[in-house]
Amino acid sequence: MRYGGWQQIAFERELTGELTTVPVGNRRLLCVRGKDGGVEVFDAICPHRGADLSAGGKIIGDHVVQCPYHGHKIALGGEGGGPYCVRRYRSITVEGLVFAMLGDFEDGKLPEMLEYLRTTHKIFAGFEKTIKVAPEMVIENAFDWAHFPTVHDVLKVTYGEPEVIDGVFTATTTLRVEPSMWQGTGDGQHHDDGSTWVEVPLLARAYSPNLTITQVAVGGGDHPHYVIAAAIAQLDGTSRIRLSVAIPRNPDGSEPAKELADIILQFESMGLEQDRPVWENLALDITPQYTSEDANVLSYRKFCERFSLE
Ligand code: FES
Ligand SMILES: [Fe+2]
Repeated sequence: MRYGGWQQIAFERELTGELTTVPVGNRRLLCVRGKDGGVEVFDAICPHRGADLSAGGKIIGDHVVQCPYHGHKIALGGEGGGPYCVRRYRSITVEGLVFAMLGDFEDGKLPEMLEYLRTTHKIFAGFEKTIKVAPEMVIENAFDWAHFPTVHDVLKVTYGEPEVIDGVFTATTTLRVEPSMWQGTGDGQHHDDGSTWVEVPLLARAYSPNLTITQVAVGGGDHPHYVIAAAIAQLDGTSRIRLSVAIPRNPDGSEPAKELADIILQFESMGLEQDRPVWENLALDITPQYTSEDANVLSYRKFCERFSLE
């Protein structure tokens, strides 16, 4: 796999057993559910001869798994399991979303952002989808403003120049869109010429080539929220996409309605389906001839290089 950095490797609901292997590019990560319900992440492959520890392995002590093949004791993360151990990955589990850091890269304030969302918002774990496209293309989506009118029926896009702030690729956009169930639900969408549109400002942040958190309706528009979009390479050339939404808690601290999250997630899913036919038929062997409109894509590509694993 090409890039490391923070990844959302799973939804907690996918981790049904004590030990679950999650494929991430050409690696396999072992998610271990502790007694307290927390999730820890390690390499899933037995160093002896390559068995997948989740395929019949058993937890036989504190951070010790017995390999299902020849029965060696494998220490999870180091100490205490005989000669064999598997590496631990830094991980964060927040409201049903499991993140892990691949490689040795800067945090880019992801832990702080997740903590902010956990304490001030309700995070709704969303859907998974598989699309035949490289993960960095899915994340690039948020920054490739030139495709919004053709693919996503956006009427007009204005785009700020992206910046890398605290290791996070950050860009602002304003989308002019037709009113719908989630934007333009109030007054103000009727313009002098009789047209009806609303402007929705977005602030997109890429934490790695695999993870972006976009603030929607920041400083304007209906139903402000965050979209957490993650994409992970699979060995067959597809990406596993996981998408969730965070909605501000009500002023009295109560949770926002799940129906709103469902509507937003439906829109996001539709958006990805609009991208799908283009992505799945891309010719990857041409040398692109970029125009000035692609400047943001090019600076995003440059940002991706700092997460290179090669
Ligand atoms: S492969 Fe794990 S003990 Fe042999
Ligand atoms: Fe798109």
